[in-house]
Amino acid sequence: MANSDRQAALERRRQLVVEQWNLEQEVVLVRSGQALSIAGSDLHHEFRPHPDFAYLAGYGVPESVLAYDAKARQWQLFGPRSTADDMVWHQPANEIGLPVDDLDDWLGSRERQPLIEGWDDRKIQSGIAETRLQKDELELSALRSAAVTSEAGFSWVYENARVGMTEREIQIGIEAEFFRAGAVRTAYPSIVASGPNGAYLHYVYGQDDSLNPATRTIQKGELLLIDAGGEFGGYASDVTRTMVVGDEPTDVQSFLWQVVFRAQELAIDRCRPGEEWREVHLDSARVIGSGLVELGILRGEVDALVASGAVALFYPHGLGHLIGLTVHDAGGYPLGREPGSHPQSRYLRTDRTLEAGMITSVEPGVYFIDAILADPSVRQQFEAEVVWDAVDPLRGFGGIRIEDDIHVTNDEPEVLSGAIAKPLRIG
Ligand code: GLY
Ligand code: MN
Ligand code: MN
Repeated sequence: MANSDRQAALERRRQLVVEQWNLEQEVVLVRSGQALSIAGSDLHHEFRPHPDFAYLAGYGVPESVLAYDAKARQWQLFGPRSTADDMVWHQPANEIGLPVDDLDDWLGSRERQPLIEGWDDRKIQSGIAETRLQKDELELSALRSAAVTSEAGFSWVYENARVGMTEREIQIGIEAEFFRAGAVRTAYPSIVASGPNGAYLHYVYGQDDSLNPATRTIQKGELLLIDAGGEFGGYASDVTRTMVVGDEPTDVQSFLWQVVFRAQELAIDRCRPGEEWREVHLDSARVIGSGLVELGILRGEVDALVASGAVALFYPHGLGHLIGLTVHDAGGYPLGREPGSHPQSRYLRTDRTLEAGMITSVEPGVYFIDAILADPSVRQQFEAEVVWDAVDPLRGFGGIRIEDDIHVTNDEPEVLSGAIAKPLRIG
C-alpha cells in the first residue's frame, strides 16, 4: 500500500475518533507505553505498543505520545531521540514527530491544560474502541496477510506432524513457518496440546515451569489441538484446528468433531450485520448440546440444558471475540453492557450487534475438563442432566476446537483463515 494511502487511513481514523470524542477544549494524550523491565535484571520484555497508539499513529515506537488539542483541532506526534551513548548499544530510535522532551513545553503553550477534575478516561478509550471496531482497508490487508502466515504454519503441520513427535517440535515447526511467511511474531503464545492436554483451554509451553518446561509426545490415535497464529503489521490471526494423529478417528472423536464443525459452520453463516453475538453464541451452545444428547452424555431438552449450565460443563468458553491489533481486541462490550455470570456466557468476550467491518473469531469447542467433571458438587448438581457413567470414560479425551477469523461484510461473511484446511486426521 502506498505511503499516501497509509497517511490517508491514519487521518481518517483520527477524524473518526475526534467525532466520537466530541470534545471542545481538552487535550488528549495517547501514549505508546514503555518497555517493561524484567524483574531482577537490566533486560526488558519485548515491547508492544498500546494498540490505541499504534492505531492512530501507525508506529510501534516506545515512549512516544500522540497528542490532540481539541480547541486547536490539532494532532501532534512526539517520539524519543537517541543520545550518542544510546547509539553505542542500539540502533538509533526512529525519529518520529517532535522530540518527546518538548511535550511539556507544547502542553504549556496550549490554551487549556490537560488536567481536568473528574475527567472520565473511559469515554476517550471507548471512543477509540468504537472506531477500531470497523476495520479499514489498511487493517484488512494486514489481517489477510496475518492469515496467510498462519496458513503456512498449519500446512507444515499437515505435512509433517507424526506420532512420536513432541508438542514442542510441532510448536517450533509451525512458528518457523509463520515467521518464514512474514509474521513478525506469534499473535499469542501458541497452544499445541496433545491428548488430555487439549482439555486446558489455554495450554501453553512453559507455563508449568519456565525453567524446565514439560513437553509431551503425541501418541497414536490421540487428538492434537493447535491454536496458533501469526501476527503481521501488528494485526493478529487466531486459528484452531483439531485432528487425530496417525490413526483412524474413533466413533466418538469423529462424532464430536462433526458436532463442533457443524456448530462452527452455522455460526460463521450468522456473521452478518444485525446479528446479536450473544444469540449466535447461545445457538452454538444448542448445537453442541444436541450433539451431547445424541451421544448419550446429556439427557433432557436442549434449551433447558443450556439454561442450567449443563452444556457449559463441556463448552465453557464463548463462541468468539473481536480480532485486530490484539488477538482479543478492544470493544467487545460497549459501554452499558457488562459480562454476565451465567455459566454459558460468563467467558463471552463480545456482547454486541455485529456490524460490517468487524472481525470476529468463531471457535466453538467440546472438552472433557477434569477440574469441572471431577468436582463432587458439580456431579451432584447435574446428576439428572449428565450421564456420568458415559462421561467418566472420556476423561482424558482432551478437547476439540475449530476456530476461524471472520470479516463481517454487507455481503457473504469473509473467512480470512478459510484457506487453512480442516483435516480430521493427519499423519
Ligand atoms: N488463542 C486464544 C483464543 O482463541 O482466544
Ligand atoms: Mn485461538
Ligand atoms: Mn480466539
